[in-house]
Amino acid sequence: MTNPTRLLIGGKWEDAQSGKTFTTINPATEEVLAEVAEADAPDVDRAVRAARRAFADTAWSRMAARERAKLLWKVGDLIVKNADELAKLETQDNGKPIFESRYVDIPAAAETFYYYAGWCTKIEGTTIPVPGDFFNYTLREPYGVCGIITPWNFPLLMVAWKVAPALACGNTVVVKVAEETPLSGLWLGQLCQEAGLPDGVVNLVPGFGETAGRALVAHPAVDKISFTGSTAVGKEIMRTAADTLKKVSLELGGKSPNIVFADADLDAAAKGAFNGIFYGKGEVCAAGSRLLVERGAHDALLDRLVDRAKKLEPGDPLNPKTRLGALVSKAQLERVLGYIEAGVREGARPVLAGGRAAGRGYFVRPAIFDQVAPGMTIAQEEIFGPVLSILPYDDVDDAVRIANDTVYGLAGAVWSGDPERAKAVARRLRTGQVDINGGGFNFMAPFGGYKQSGLGRELGRYGLEEFLETKSLQL
Ligand code: NAI
Ligand code: MG
Repeated sequence: MTNPTRLLIGGKWEDAQSGKTFTTINPATEEVLAEVAEADAPDVDRAVRAARRAFADTAWSRMAARERAKLLWKVGDLIVKNADELAKLETQDNGKPIFESRYVDIPAAAETFYYYAGWCTKIEGTTIPVPGDFFNYTLREPYGVCGIITPWNFPLLMVAWKVAPALACGNTVVVKVAEETPLSGLWLGQLCQEAGLPDGVVNLVPGFGETAGRALVAHPAVDKISFTGSTAVGKEIMRTAADTLKKVSLELGGKSPNIVFADADLDAAAKGAFNGIFYGKGEVCAAGSRLLVERGAHDALLDRLVDRAKKLEPGDPLNPKTRLGALVSKAQLERVLGYIEAGVREGARPVLAGGRAAGRGYFVRPAIFDQVAPGMTIAQEEIFGPVLSILPYDDVDDAVRIANDTVYGLAGAVWSGDPERAKAVARRLRTGQVDINGGGFNFMAPFGGYKQSGLGRELGRYGLEEFLETKSLQL
């Protein structure tokens, strides 16, 4: 089958009104992967109007919850059925190892649809014991048209995290996929059509943030925006959305601390720290980009970590053995290399130097900086690459203070042989998620940020809530 490369509006694949296209490249080869129709404001307007009609009308708004559930389940099945090809496409578009896309991204996208299919029939209100002879109850209703703007680091999965709960609640959606990695999201649009979702329920407007993205956020007929991406753009979206008082949920950047106490299982902690920063090339919002180590365990942990990291070589993302792929774009490559230079310039000690790998493609070797001070650029800013900052600390209070000394608050991890201490420290972290002794991430649990890491939650029951209005009725 050929992958769709055009806009999906009201059930039809269309060119942009301007006729313009943009290229998406394979970052491992620097070759053009596809030409994609480039949506701009007039296309976004048509897509929003199609979504509005599909919401107001018809088959979708009158559909029984159990029928919606079946459709979402079917989308999950179609993702599974196409998993090999989707994984290959994801890897070619993003540069991530096929090992990740085939065993994590694509199956997790399917699971997200299965999970939210189950919620369709379980969206319930409450009865409220108001005084007097009245009966008061609430209904949970969809917002209407949801604008969805996704990033390039988990291209299909981020679309799934937003589209599946939005649809489960009965909304319709207009999706602006990331310009670096538009292809898997477009394919998902095709699978939604194939599953039998009515025309106009899922619309897709690939294009750039400044044009298509901004038009979606500004559009008066969009009720809600769900965004994942940089904190800077998240702020701008909030500002723009203020004009029409859209609801917004934002999943933004992070600088997540990984705290290791001297009494921790250091083998496990080293493995956790390694995966925390090098999985997904470090292009992960929840990446454990700061490793906080109690001084007594510093040398032992560093040895274990470097042992692993020095064997990690970037390679062909389509090779099933590869564990470190290519960064998504030239811009991202330059950003990451710039941070590595900043680490050296500001006096952190490079244990593994990182740097661009020879040859074609945007490959960067693992970089580990030791003796990073909390105020350094590489300890404060989100790098979004395979670059780890190690910050030694003296005691519990010191660890918590350093961990919370950032504008971000997305995730964190604590490693200690004393579970009570680990839990106590976890409670003091100002972050939306904390993994204790290697307990990882689960999409049935809420995910999102404290502080400047975001607004609202995704996944689980909490993620569903973000796509529902509440109506109070009394008789
Ligand atoms: P970005 O925030 O510009 O892009 C994310 C999405 O937002 C894309 O679909 C883009 O087209 C859209 N967008 C951009 N400007 C917009 C606007 N004015 N209105 C509406 N939509 C807009 O992120 P970018 O430039 O790709 O990456 C820069 C840095 O952002 C990364 O190095 C990383 O630190 C962070 N980032 C964080 C992500 C996360 O998962 N939290 C994901 C992607 C990037
Ligand atoms: Mg690409």
